[in-house]
Amino acid sequence: MRVLVTGGAGFIGSNVVKILEDNGAKVIILDNFSHSSYKNLMDLQAEAIVSDITDESIYKKLPKVDAVIHEAAITDTTLADDTKMMTVNYEGSKKILNFCLAKNIPLVYASSAGVYGETKSIAREDQKLIPHNTYGYSKYLFDCQVNKIIIKKALPRIVGLRYFNVYGPREYHKGSAASMTYQLYLQMIAGKRPRVFKYGEQKRDFIYVKDVARITVAALKSKKSAILNLGTGIPRSFNDIISSLNQVLKTKLEPDYFDNPYGDKYQNFTQADTTLLNKVLKTKAEFSLEEGIKDYVDNYLE
Ligand SMILES: NC(=O)c1ccc[n+]([C@@H]2O[C@H](COP(=O)([O-])OP(=O)(O)OC[C@H]3O[C@@H](n4cnc5c(N)ncnc54)[C@H](O)[C@@H]3O)[C@@H](O)[C@H]2O)c1
Repeated sequence: MRVLVTGGAGFIGSNVVKILEDNGAKVIILDNFSHSSYKNLMDLQAEAIVSDITDESIYKKLPKVDAVIHEAAITDTTLADDTKMMTVNYEGSKKILNFCLAKNIPLVYASSAGVYGETKSIAREDQKLIPHNTYGYSKYLFDCQVNKIIIKKALPRIVGLRYFNVYGPREYHKGSAASMTYQLYLQMIAGKRPRVFKYGEQKRDFIYVKDVARITVAALKSKKSAILNLGTGIPRSFNDIISSLNQVLKTKLEPDYFDNPYGDKYQNFTQADTTLLNKVLKTKAEFSLEEGIKDYVDNYLE
């Protein structure tokens, strides 16, 4: 099987490429290397095409593939350039979608929990979506576009996955946009007390990238088109991350709490309803937060 992975040099994309190659697939990466690291590709065989997904001319030059996994996006949610965010995340994604429709090949793409905006309870796929930044809106608008096609056509299969808070190996190039686990790890390994907003009880649905990559690849075999949450279904606190890191690093560093400058605008809670994911793809996340952090630190960070 030949698979095109957009954003394959990035965090989740390179983990996806790894799983595909472990399963014997031939992978072609399409990435402009704007927010990635060549180090993510050093243990991979994939061929890389260096191009922007918004460049119309590239679609005529792509080799024949059997499926597409679309991960490329502007992922810095704080980017102030709305034109760039919409052009890449929405217009660029539509070009990928049109390529798959024209070739009649399956598409699995990365959506985001950002489509839900502020949530105080469990997020279900059919609830009203109120994204609260341009990043969330760009993902929302593409989900709406896909939904129109899913309703109209049976083929090819399209699966959108609304990733929740992903952490794990190959994320270091993301800097301040890397996961909370990675940020806290860096502080703690330097012997500093981990700094979190008062009082560390903000809860998020943290999911290990190995689960995300495995389920993303499994979605290529989905029997039906759908847009699904991809989280563990279990919200965990920042204090839980610190406890897990203390355990794995064999440290006893107390959290250093400070005032949250974002006040009410801060997302204090995320939790995926995973019912639809379990039903459609017949799978679920396997790593608990403790298992994910242990695997990450023991095998990739220390
Ligand atoms: N990491 C998370 O917690 C998370 C959560 C929800 C959704 N997502 C989504 O998952 C996908 C992957 O995210 P990630 O965390 O791996 O981010 P990342 O920034 O590490 O990867 C994005 C990749 O896309 C490439 N890229 C950016 N703009 C491009 C363009 N115009 N043309 C071609 N390539 C381009 C970058 O170079 C990079 O390799 C994204 O679509 C993101 O929105 C991630």
